[in-house]
Amino acid sequence: MPFCVATDGPAAAGKGTISKALAERFGYAHLDTGLLYRAVGAKTLQGMDAVEAAKSLVPEDMVDEDALRAPQVARAASQVAAQHDVRAALVDFQRAFARRDGGAVLDGRDIGTVICPDAEVKLYITASDEVRAERRYLEMRAKGVEITQEEVAKDLAERDRRDESRATAPLVAADDAIVIDTTALSIEEAVALAVQKVQAVLDA
Ligand code: CDP
Repeated sequence: MPFCVATDGPAAAGKGTISKALAERFGYAHLDTGLLYRAVGAKTLQGMDAVEAAKSLVPEDMVDEDALRAPQVARAASQVAAQHDVRAALVDFQRAFARRDGGAVLDGRDIGTVICPDAEVKLYITASDEVRAERRYLEMRAKGVEITQEEVAKDLAERDRRDESRATAPLVAADDAIVIDTTALSIEEAVALAVQKVQAVLDA
């Protein structure tokens, strides 16, 4: 039976970690939709047209996650993600994933608003700008990326602004989303809270 958990929110708020944990806990499939936009962004950095890249995307394009997590790819991702035709080319795949048998968790920016507006559970994961920048900075440093916390903060602010202000599918919490602010929560606490929210819907 299909059961969709839509997890949206700004960069580095914890939605990836929470989504992965939910998928594992409930046995659902997980799709990090940011990787789709990152893969398209990466192709444009190699000179390809963004819409062509989106239309011809194949699973292998999402394999090299480390390369796709680079700051310049994140920037390119948020630029191509503002293009209506790029988003349109990625809709069918995401909708089919959301409705697959056995349940699915999708994390992104527009899952609860555009991709799966009838999702059984909608979570909006957020955290303060400072905490998000610090988390992403530590993540990058652990991977050996040479970057300062100020640069990370600037990147995130720029991306948030672009994601929130674009005309097509802007980043916004769905009216019926459950907001989880992870600013003062540990990973374990944030995951436990999200698990509790999903379980409550399953029990209802
Ligand atoms: O991991 P992080 O939150 O930094 O970014 P991501 O989820 O991998 O997404 C990278 C970029 O892709 C975002 O800044 C958005 O511009 C775009 N994106 C989007 O527009 N819609 C989605 N469903 C997912 C990502």
